[in-house]
Amino acid sequence: MIYLAPLQGFTDFVYRAAHAAVFNSIDAYFIPYISLKHNKILPKYFREISPQNNRQMRVVPQVLAKDGNELALMAKQLLDLGYAEINLNLGCPYPMVTNRGKGAGLLATPAKVNEILERFFSTSEGELSVKLRSGLQSDSELSSVIDVLNQFPIKEVIYHPRVASQLYSGEIDENAYLFASQQLKHRLVYNGDIFSVKTYTEKNEMFLQTSDWMLGRGVLMNPLLPNEIMGVQLSKEKRDSLLFLFHKYVLEGYLEAMDNEGNALNKMKQFWIYFSHRFPAHKKVFKLVKKAKDMNKYQSVIRTAFDQL
Ligand SMILES: Cc1cc2nc3c(=O)[nH]c(=O)nc-3n(C[C@H](O)[C@H](O)[C@H](O)COP(=O)(O)O)c2cc1C
Repeated sequence: MIYLAPLQGFTDFVYRAAHAAVFNSIDAYFIPYISLKHNKILPKYFREISPQNNRQMRVVPQVLAKDGNELALMAKQLLDLGYAEINLNLGCPYPMVTNRGKGAGLLATPAKVNEILERFFSTSEGELSVKLRSGLQSDSELSSVIDVLNQFPIKEVIYHPRVASQLYSGEIDENAYLFASQQLKHRLVYNGDIFSVKTYTEKNEMFLQTSDWMLGRGVLMNPLLPNEIMGVQLSKEKRDSLLFLFHKYVLEGYLEAMDNEGNALNKMKQFWIYFSHRFPAHKKVFKLVKKAKDMNKYQSVIRTAFDQL
């Protein structure tokens, strides 16, 4: 199976719907994390989790929670909306999150993880999966967290084998992943640095027990990557026309979702941070997109970029 990773600011409901409609290559879409303020889900997240905006087959909302109470509150609201499963974020590396005891901040306190899971499994109906890193400070934290995870009927564990201080770069800790694949009782999904069919094949050969993969930036840079990994053969003409259609859907989606054209343009500029990598001379393409002052200028830059594909 291939999952689309949650990437805050990138894989939002517009992106997910457009990707599903054009490529039909993802088995599950993970909604970037939502969190609570004063025990309420912030209104800015409503559109992300609204069932009308999430009509794909399998969509999993992700939550950041600092304790069992927060997870229970969010789980109730999400299950009421009709979601059957929820993903708990144990990986977000940013100090703003970890200092509040959320995301990877929980990895240093396995007792807290235990409390959160105990509360969920004794009070909630739905299924729970976990998205994990190796540790907050060091991968020596991993073993105790795995011991806790093994006590509960978790649906699956998605593991990005880096510690929080690495953020999203530096060496992937392959040994830590292999250790987790031996120690964890749950289905394990690999996540991290799959940017091409070649890197996928390497990981596939290295992690023989793994058959489920979560892809993030690799899809943002090349939305056709899951199709390529599945071995779907497409002509260049077909690939280019799918990318063109995908861009069209994303643009139309943002024009509809944003209150004005300027905001839609800003979302498109964000989209091109990664999407430009699919184009020859990608730095130049991105620079021109960034400079576009209005939608007319943007459209003309984009036409030239697609002509050069
Ligand atoms: C800009 C950005 C935003 C992210 N947002 C989230 C998020 O909301 N929840 C989460 O679990 N991980 C988040 N991640 C991590 C990704 O889901 C993924 O674990 C990471 O990018 C490694 O996978 P990749 O190498 O395939 O991209 C984010 C990563 C980036 C770069």
